[in-house]
Amino acid sequence: MPFRIIRNDITKIEVDAVVNAANNSLLGGGGVDGAIHRAAGPELLKECRTLGGCETGDAKITKGYKMPCKYIIHTVGPIWQGGKNSEKEQLYSCYEKSLQLAKDYKCESIAFPLISSGVYGYPKDKALEVAVSAITDFLEENEMDITMVVFDKSAVSVSEKLIADVRKYIDDNYAEEHSDFASRSPFIQSNFKRTELSKGKKLSKAMEPECCDALPFDFDTLDESFSQALLRMIDEKGMTDVQVYKKANIDRRLFSKIRSDVNYKPKKQTAVALAIALELDIFETQKLLEKAGYTLSNSLKFDVIIKYFIENKKYNIMEINETLFTFDQSLIGV
Ligand code: AR6
Repeated sequence: MPFRIIRNDITKIEVDAVVNAANNSLLGGGGVDGAIHRAAGPELLKECRTLGGCETGDAKITKGYKMPCKYIIHTVGPIWQGGKNSEKEQLYSCYEKSLQLAKDYKCESIAFPLISSGVYGYPKDKALEVAVSAITDFLEENEMDITMVVFDKSAVSVSEKLIADVRKYIDDNYAEEHSDFASRSPFIQSNFKRTELSKGKKLSKAMEPECCDALPFDFDTLDESFSQALLRMIDEKGMTDVQVYKKANIDRRLFSKIRSDVNYKPKKQTAVALAIALELDIFETQKLLEKAGYTLSNSLKFDVIIKYFIENKKYNIMEINETLFTFDQSLIGV
C-alpha cells in the first residue's frame, strides 16, 4: 500500500517512522510537535538537544522512544507568507528530505502530518498538493508505505469543481437498493440468477443485462482467471508490470502475488485500482472485475464515484483517492 490518506492522531500510528512538524530549535512546541513529545516522553527532548536545531526544509532523525515507531523524523516546514517566499520549494524539500532519511534508515513505512498547515498557516489544500507531488515523485523511484495522517477531513479539499461534478454525478446515478433501476436489473437483485451465472450457464436473451452496469461476464474468455486477464491486458496496453503497480498505488509484493498465483482473488479496491492503472473503459473494467467476483453497481456510492472517474477518463489515483476520502469511502489500491 504505497500511499494512503487516513484520519487519525499521528502519535497512534504503527509505522517505522513518524514525521514531526517541528520548528528550527527542535525543542518542542504545540500541534503535532507537542503531541509527539508528550507521547514519546522526555528522552526525546534529551536527544533533540544534541541535534543543534534544523534549517527550514531540512530533516533530522531521532529514536521513537515511547511512540509506536522506530524513528521520529523532525522536519521544519515554512511559515506561510502568501506563497511568494519559496514556501512551496521548502515544503517540497521537507517531504523529500524526510523520505530520503527514512530510506537511509531502511524504513519500509512512514507517516506524515500535513506539514506547515497548522500553526505555520500554509493553506491546507495547497499543502496537500505539495505533499502529494513530493510523495508521487518519490514513489516513482522507490518502494515505501506512505501514510498521510490528517486530523480533520477538511484538510483534504479536492477542487470544489471536481467535488461538485462528482456530487452531481452521484445525484444522477446513485440508486438506492430498491429503486427502479435495481429492480429492472436482473443481476443486481436476483440471487438465483447469480447462482446460475456462477455455474457458468449461458443466459437466455431475456436474462441478459440491459446495460453495462450489470454486465457480469465476458463469455468468450470465461475460463480466464483475474490474474490471466490482468496480464493479458497489461500486454495489450503495452505497459510494464512496474508501470502498472506503481500507477495502481499497490505494493510490489502484492503485485507479485497476483502475478504468480493464477487463482489469486484480489480485494475489490485492488482490482479497481488495476483497472484504473490500465485506463480501462467502463466495459473493460466490468469485465476485469467480474473475474474477481465483483461488479460496479449504482447502489454503492464507492462504485458510482469510480464510474464517474472512468467515464470522464480521469485516471489519476491520487485524485481519485482524495475524492473517495472526501466522500468517506475506502481508498483504492491500498
Ligand atoms: N495528528 C495528526 N495531525 C495533527 C495532530 C496529530 N496529533 N495535531 C495537529 N495535527 P502543526 P505546522 C494537524 O501546527 O503548521 C509547532 O508548535 C494540524 O491540524 O502541528 O508545521 C511546532 O513546534 C495541521 O493540519 O504544524 C512549530 O512551531 C497539521 O497537523 C509549528 O507548530 C500541522 O499542524 C509548526 O507548525
